[in-house]
Amino acid sequence: FKIFCGNANRPLAQEIVSYLGVPLGEAKIKRFQDGETCLAIDESVRGSDIYVVQPTCYPTNDNIMELLIMIDAIRRASARRITAVMPYYGYARQERKSKARDPITAKLMANLITTAGADRVVTMDLHAPAIQGFFDIPLDHLPGVPILAEYFREKGLENLCVVSPDLGGVTRARNLAERIGATLAIIDKRRPEPNVSEIMHVIGELKGKTVIMIDDIIDTAGTITQGAQALLERGAKEVYACCTHPVLSGPAIERLKNSVIRELVVTNTIPLGLEKTIPIIKVLSVA
Ligand code: R5P
Repeated sequence: FKIFCGNANRPLAQEIVSYLGVPLGEAKIKRFQDGETCLAIDESVRGSDIYVVQPTCYPTNDNIMELLIMIDAIRRASARRITAVMPYYGYARQERKSKARDPITAKLMANLITTAGADRVVTMDLHAPAIQGFFDIPLDHLPGVPILAEYFREKGLENLCVVSPDLGGVTRARNLAERIGATLAIIDKRRPEPNVSEIMHVIGELKGKTVIMIDDIIDTAGTITQGAQALLERGAKEVYACCTHPVLSGPAIERLKNSVIRELVVTNTIPLGLEKTIPIIKVLSVA
C-alpha cells in the first residue's frame, strides 16, 4: 500500500506514515497562474492499494478539488484500490433540506468522491451519521470519543458531568460520559439563524460539578462559549470543552480567549494555524 496526501493536512499525513514506518507518496500539488490545481504524482501506483489523506477543511472548496483530482489521477494510473481518508468531511452540516430550495451538499460531495474513483472512505465524527448512507461504497466512520476519553481519564478529574451542547449530540456525550464515569446533562439550544445560537434550558444536575462539554465541530465557538457561561451560571464548578473538529472560523479565537472555558481539547483532523494556537487549546492526535 502507499499513502499520499494533498495540502489540507500534511502534518497529520506525516504522523500517519511515521506511525506506520512507510514513506509518504511522492506527489506535488501546486496552483497554475489562473488558480486551477496542478497535480503531479511522482511515483508508480499501478496495482497498489492507495490511501489519500485529505480532510476537506478550510479552504474547503480548494481541498475538495485537490482530493477529487488526486483520486482521478491515481485511478487513471491503474491503482488497485483507492481509499479517501477524510478525517473531517466538509459540508457535513448541509445534509438535508431545512428550507425550500436548499441544496444537499453533503450528498453532492459523496457523488463527486465516488465518481472520481474512490473505492472506500474513512472519516471521523460525521455531523450526521446518516451521511454514511449517501455513499454506495464502504465507509468507515470512526469516533473521536475514545481519544478524548483517554485524555480526560488520565487527567484524573472528579465529580464529572458531560454536557451535550444540543439535542443532536446526546449519543456522543453519553458515550464520553460512560467511558469516564460521569453523569450526563443536555443544553436545549435553538438556532434562530446560521452561526447564531440561543440557549433555552439545561436538562440535568450541574451543582458543584466539573463539566466537560463535547461537540463534533466547534466553528465560530458561539455554541460552546455561550454554553460554558450558561453552565457556570447554573452552578457548575468549572467547565472544560472538547470536540473532534476544530474548524474555529471567524470570531472563534477571540471568543475562546474571552471565555470561561478552562481548557479546550481538540483533535488534529483539521490543522490549527499558528494564529489559532492559544494556551487553553490542547491538541490530541488521531494519527
Ligand atoms: C451543530 O449542530 C454542530 O454540532 C456544532 O454545534 C456547531 O457546528 C458549532 O458551531 P459554532 O461553533 O459556530 O456555534
